[in-house]
Amino acid sequence: MDNTRERISVVIAGHVDHGKSTVLGRLLADTGLLAEGKIDAVRRACEKNSKPFEYAFLLDALKDEQSQGITIDSARVFFKTAKRDYLIIDAPGHIEFLKNMVSGASRAEAAILVIDAKEGVRENTRRHGYLLSMLGIRQLAVVINKMDLVGYSEERFRSIAAECKSFLKESGIVPMEIVPASGLHGENISKPSVRMSWYKGATVLRALDSFRKEPLPVEKPFRMPVQDVYKFTGFGDDRRIIAGTPESGRISAGDGVVFYPSGKKSRVAAIEAFPSSGKGACEAGLASGFTLEEQIYVTRGEVAARDSEPKPEVASRFKVRLFWMGRQPLEKGRFYSFKIGTSKTRAEVEFIPRTMRIAKNSATFDFSVTENAPRVERHEIAECILRTVRQVVFGASGDDPSSMRFVLVDGYEVAGGGTVLGPEGAPGGELKELVVTRELKWIKSSISSGIRASRHHQKPFLIIVTGPEESPRKEIGRALEQELYAKGFDAYFLGFGSVLYGVDADLKRPRGDHARDTDGRSGNDHIPELPHVRFEHIRRLGEIANILLDAGLILIVTAIALTEEDLAILRTTLAPGKIMTVRVGPLATDLKCDVALDQSARVEVSVETLVKELAKRSVIQS
Ligand code: GTP
Ligand code: MG
Repeated sequence: MDNTRERISVVIAGHVDHGKSTVLGRLLADTGLLAEGKIDAVRRACEKNSKPFEYAFLLDALKDEQSQGITIDSARVFFKTAKRDYLIIDAPGHIEFLKNMVSGASRAEAAILVIDAKEGVRENTRRHGYLLSMLGIRQLAVVINKMDLVGYSEERFRSIAAECKSFLKESGIVPMEIVPASGLHGENISKPSVRMSWYKGATVLRALDSFRKEPLPVEKPFRMPVQDVYKFTGFGDDRRIIAGTPESGRISAGDGVVFYPSGKKSRVAAIEAFPSSGKGACEAGLASGFTLEEQIYVTRGEVAARDSEPKPEVASRFKVRLFWMGRQPLEKGRFYSFKIGTSKTRAEVEFIPRTMRIAKNSATFDFSVTENAPRVERHEIAECILRTVRQVVFGASGDDPSSMRFVLVDGYEVAGGGTVLGPEGAPGGELKELVVTRELKWIKSSISSGIRASRHHQKPFLIIVTGPEESPRKEIGRALEQELYAKGFDAYFLGFGSVLYGVDADLKRPRGDHARDTDGRSGNDHIPELPHVRFEHIRRLGEIANILLDAGLILIVTAIALTEEDLAILRTTLAPGKIMTVRVGPLATDLKCDVALDQSARVEVSVETLVKELAKRSVIQS
């Protein structure tokens, strides 16, 4: 399609069988874009199979071919009017609806809600209305279809229109147009109906053309979700193109750029616009990319921003409003895949403040509300507090709700989605305060840790030994304790498992862990992965370490797969400069280690390396 014409995406929604496909098929037929004889061909095919002709079949028939000006794929129909180009998203069910609403390619800006004049407003009419509002769609036209079935009655039209207006009002939507129509007979689809001369408003086509195209937010801060990173293939060329479609703002060569959530920084070397975008710029709405002056490692899912502009919201704990349609209910404490923009991570449902269900046969269309629910059932709307394993960036273009849209995937299926309402205070922020208070309230001993330690010619110190499950970190930790003790130092070994089952006994255990308890092995040192539980485990470990270091000890702690985030918690809890990180074997986490040990080396060799390192750091005086 040509780039100079305006293009708008519109979703068509409504209860099953209320006539979405028929209205759409009729619209295509009436805009004169269909190839000559196409409708007749479908009619003949129907006759041959003794089926009544349906405009919906027309859509199916067009799927296989690309007639001039119309393209149809799974649920999307492209067509032109005199005014502009349209992408109509036919959403046969909730899942398709949500998927289409959240995927960037067909982000709808407006919607048409189809209601059967005979059946009136049904649950899905309301659900779709609510979803549209939840997803931030404010431009809506209602089509009251099948008016032929109610004798084109103005009275019936008025009563449904009133009902419709009132439930949409609850969702904060005022329909721009309510059109009485008949898709089957082509009444009020592209030309005013003679049979409903009492109606003076717009036809469906005019309603479509009256939707405003929102201007691209070029003047807002630059936000570009990274879609892909392409390498130049030339020999010795290590440049990479960071590609994506900016949601807002613009960026030029020489601008400082920051990627979130990683916080990595560089400067734009050159803009590499794709010729198809028609402009040599990297700005809102144009698929483009840029190279960096300094090569940094950036991946899909990060959001690029300019360092001179306000930074985007980055959080790992936030409140969302969502619609659930999974076969299994959404459960508190469970993990799901969470997708927003181009990024994907795991999220735990931490708390469900409210769920709302559209009462099925209620004449009043009330929601039944449950506070602090344990789960969200299929077709319920809920407010939830989610916590993601990694930080996510949202609200990429300020107050634009479309950049806050996300989906949740249960197993392999999209099972829910909605919008992020905003970040929730994370306990991480409170940690500094806790530590300050602890320091204030601490009853200081007159024998300082320094005095204690000097008796043994050592400094209080924490050695963290981490590594994969099968690594000999515990063996090394215990051998190091023994070696230091034999040399006359005061060292203490603490496996994370020892804390897990003692001090942390009240905290949630990892799944399947109780079974492990009984196999006779000593405590495992897996740190539970639920982010807030993990946080608390590490915080407590830090507090224990703080006491033992205050007692002048060299403390050796082992744990599996520690991360930089864990280390940051320990650094906040302990006095600075008293931690050394050691990895045994390869690490799958982002933790930067001070010492790397060979997993297959003899334990004594590893211990010797560590003892030397401690001497070098003047932790021990040899
Ligand atoms: P799903 O995609 O299954 O949700 O249905 P839909 O909303 O796309 O409805 P569709 O267009 O397939 O129409 C459903 C039935 O209603 C078909 O049998 C149509 O022929 C019939 N229908 C659609 N519009 C009209 C109309 O204006 N008048 C009458 N009498 N029947 C209609
Ligand atoms: Mg349909």
